Amino acid sequence: MKISGRTFVVSGGASGLGRACVQTICASGGHAAILDMNEDQGQALASELNNTSPNSAKFLPCDVSSTSSIADAVAAIVSWTQETGKPLGGIIPAAGVGNPGLILDKNLRAVDMESVDFVLGINLRGTLDLVRQVLPHLAAVSPAASDEDGERGVVIMVASAAAFEGQMGQVAYAASKGAVASMTLPMARDLSRFGIRVVTVAPSMFESNMTAHLSDKVRTGLKKAMEFPARPGRPEEFASLVKQAIENVMLNGVVIRLDGATRMPSKL
Ligand SMILES: NC(=O)c1ccc[n+]([C@@H]2O[C@H](COP(=O)([O-])OP(=O)(O)OC[C@H]3O[C@@H](n4cnc5c(N)ncnc54)[C@H](O)[C@@H]3O)[C@@H](O)[C@H]2O)c1
Repeated sequence: MKISGRTFVVSGGASGLGRACVQTICASGGHAAILDMNEDQGQALASELNNTSPNSAKFLPCDVSSTSSIADAVAAIVSWTQETGKPLGGIIPAAGVGNPGLILDKNLRAVDMESVDFVLGINLRGTLDLVRQVLPHLAAVSPAASDEDGERGVVIMVASAAAFEGQMGQVAYAASKGAVASMTLPMARDLSRFGIRVVTVAPSMFESNMTAHLSDKVRTGLKKAMEFPARPGRPEEFASLVKQAIENVMLNGVVIRLDGATRMPSKL
């Protein structure tokens, strides 16, 4: 799918990996709907992008753990695409949270279900609900006349290395990301009749707000687990794979690790 002339919905688009996707999409001639709870950062990013390329980005405040908040944002996106004449091309649900917690701590306190629900509500339910609510509009887009495959769009979800090697304290996070990885193939199968592909990227440690506050001890431990390159990934390297996933029609129903051969140990 060509990025140019299409609109992509990016949740968590105000920061980190989502933000890099927004920037790459706009730099490639596409349009980006930035959905995030961080209004200041989201508005600032949209203004910056609109200064370079007018009306290429729109910020919409959205809490992906709320079905009605997503519904409001999706209605606004549909109106915006009608205004710009740039049809939907894809969904990148990148909003996510960590919130570590041992399933049983040394004082025999079991993990709090509120904290588990918080992580699952954003990373899993929020991903599925956003995709679910945008899909009817994406499936209604007419494929480009020149497109022999009849492609309508692409869903690019964000899992994590924790889907495969969750560390201590990552039961809820690993459950959410493992579920995202597991949804990839059945979703691709459900959507093939509409010409919509599904790809999931599973990154290891990338520089972002989520990882900015890790202690030096944890960073050193992580470095030891890295093969090559021995550094955290950069958001633009994540966005570069997302760009390829948008553009390469043969990528479908697959979870791609983006980790420089890092395999996370039990603890750091
Ligand atoms: N950075 C890493 O090392 C790493 C590794 C593996 C996976 N991931 C995943 O990548 C995705 C992006 O994370 P990041 O590293 O860019 O983190 P980040 O904290 O920089 O960005 C996450 C964004 O999501 C937004 N967000 C959080 N809760 C939300 C909600 N309920 N509704 C709407 N927006 C919400 C935040 O405001 C923030 O802008 C997440 O799904 C994360 O789990 C990150």
